[in-house]
Amino acid sequence: MSSRVVVLISGAGSNAAALLEAAADPGFGASVVAVGADRYGAGGLDLARQAGVEAFTVPFADYGDRGDWNAALIERLDAYRPDLVVSAGFMRILGAEVLERHTVVNIHPALLPAFPGAHAVRDALAYGVAITGATVHFADSGVDTGPVIDQVAVRVDPRDDTASLHERIKSVERRMLVEVVGRLAREGWSVQGRQVRLGGSGTRQTPSTEYVAEENR
Ligand code: GRF
Repeated sequence: MSSRVVVLISGAGSNAAALLEAAADPGFGASVVAVGADRYGAGGLDLARQAGVEAFTVPFADYGDRGDWNAALIERLDAYRPDLVVSAGFMRILGAEVLERHTVVNIHPALLPAFPGAHAVRDALAYGVAITGATVHFADSGVDTGPVIDQVAVRVDPRDDTASLHERIKSVERRMLVEVVGRLAREGWSVQGRQVRLGGSGTRQTPSTEYVAEENR
């Protein structure tokens, strides 16, 4: 049976779009049952509707209190009975109550634990790193601190600005996200401390080279 996935977004939703496209294949193992946003007009909501998937908004701005917003979000999430919640460019910290009830996977545009937070691409560029990338990890109560599921490296070009570097990161991160969500759905996972195991083999699987940045192959 297909795993039920709810995707949370704040913006353009290119990661959500990649998941919607992959999940259209019954062999993928996961169905996107809804796409939700924390603000009206997030681009990915229209993409969901076009794909025939439910779109919902729990606008942060409508709640005076973070606790109330979290409670409203939980109500929506619970209604979809997700096996996985994917935070794909969702720019809000999820409350402990959300994380207690749901398994949340987050995508982050840097090689964690380097450059957590909302400005990862800008921060990596400002630091002058030669290699950055993207991380898919389970969310915990910290900011981008949960156990790493997979990572992909992207070389910084000396001519990069934040936008060009972020675009290159996004092109590999969405392939990684699709790969990881599909495998979590099809193979299952376990977490011991910080170690994430996909499937039952007990070792971290070699990541597919499909989403490795071309220059790193
Ligand atoms: C991604 O780079 C994600 O890692 C970051 O925000 C971006 C979202 O892009 N947190 P999109 O909305 O999926 O296009």
